[in-house]
Amino acid sequence: MDQRKSFQRPVLSRVNPFRVMTVMHRAADLEKQGRKIVHMEVGEPDFSTAQPIVDAAKRALDEGFTQYTAAPGISELREKLAQHYSKRHRLDLDPQRILITPGASGGLTLLANMLVDQGDGILLSDPAYPCVRNFIYLLGAQPQLIPVGLEQNFQPTVEMLDHYRSDATRGVWLASPGNPTGTILERKQLQEISAWARQHACHLLVDEIYHGLHYVEDMPSILEIDQSAFVVNSFSKYFGMTGWRLGWIVVPEDYIGTANILAQNLYISASSIAQRAALAAFSEEAEGIFESRRAAFRQRRDYLAAALKDLGFVISDNIQGAFYIYANISKFSTDAEEFCRLVLEDYGVAITPGTDFGEYRSNEFVRLAFTTSMEDLELGVERLAEAVSALV
Ligand SMILES: Cc1ncc(COP(=O)(O)O)c(C=O)c1O
Repeated sequence: MDQRKSFQRPVLSRVNPFRVMTVMHRAADLEKQGRKIVHMEVGEPDFSTAQPIVDAAKRALDEGFTQYTAAPGISELREKLAQHYSKRHRLDLDPQRILITPGASGGLTLLANMLVDQGDGILLSDPAYPCVRNFIYLLGAQPQLIPVGLEQNFQPTVEMLDHYRSDATRGVWLASPGNPTGTILERKQLQEISAWARQHACHLLVDEIYHGLHYVEDMPSILEIDQSAFVVNSFSKYFGMTGWRLGWIVVPEDYIGTANILAQNLYISASSIAQRAALAAFSEEAEGIFESRRAAFRQRRDYLAAALKDLGFVISDNIQGAFYIYANISKFSTDAEEFCRLVLEDYGVAITPGTDFGEYRSNEFVRLAFTTSMEDLELGVERLAEAVSALV
């Protein structure tokens, strides 16, 4: 008889599957049965990758650019990104500080392994992108969740950092614009948080993956304020390259060496073809495409925010970026998962329960992604109107 116990680490019981996956699978089943489903659950742009990028990838393949690259990425792309920071944020960044990663996910894995030790406490907002919490658990560290609500526009204040820190706290990890809330940390908030992190000997990491998809004038990078901060970003969202698995991180100068060693060990390099392709993301033609897509997202945001308010959902008046609305459903239900099940099964609208993103009042919230056409959004709103009128 096999006397061995399971080899799976107990900590894995804390790493939850995404409920959005269940929604997506069920939506696909219903579509197979011939139902028309409105997809407002998907966390990626509905536009396919811009043609200049696709063409550049084809050229890379034809030229046989198919081997590993240097671990921190090809120098041309790191230089393009440095120019991007100069143009968008008036920053003069040494390209050596920029490492190309397999998506923001690869960047977060690298930074977690570099910065988080067993027993450390890391301050995060609740709700937040769920993988971050799981990376921290997997390293034997403790996510210290800060419950944020509409009152704080879903971003923590320094008073809250003070309240939720402990002697074990070593870092603060935030996202601006955030998933699932679409709210940002404004310049003053970034300044305060940066000063707080310095004062409390904590590192500061800001996930800026939704930069570019913002609808405000001033969308500061933390690097404009604090050159000792760590940044995660990606080609997935604004650049529309989710499936290419390409992102980047920016690290302070003294961390370049260690970050390179970790990159070599964790993934050798990001995809060579994707890196070559991404060079074309900085052409005028590609930028024009991204900006017109941003305008489309803004139009959808304006429409959906107004429609949801009319229906009685409570939402932020200040959705400043990304493509999500985090809506309070208290008027209709006390169980977000049941609400999402009902609107999918009975009304054919796929949305994500707040329970995917944290614990704080998560049963009162759902995330609606405006990653679908205006036509489908209008149909979705029509169907949601029917659903909620049956519930009140
Ligand atoms: C806030 C945030 N960070 C990181 C990621 C990971 O993105 P990727 O690995 O595709 O770059 C996502 C994906 O949805 C996200 O929402």
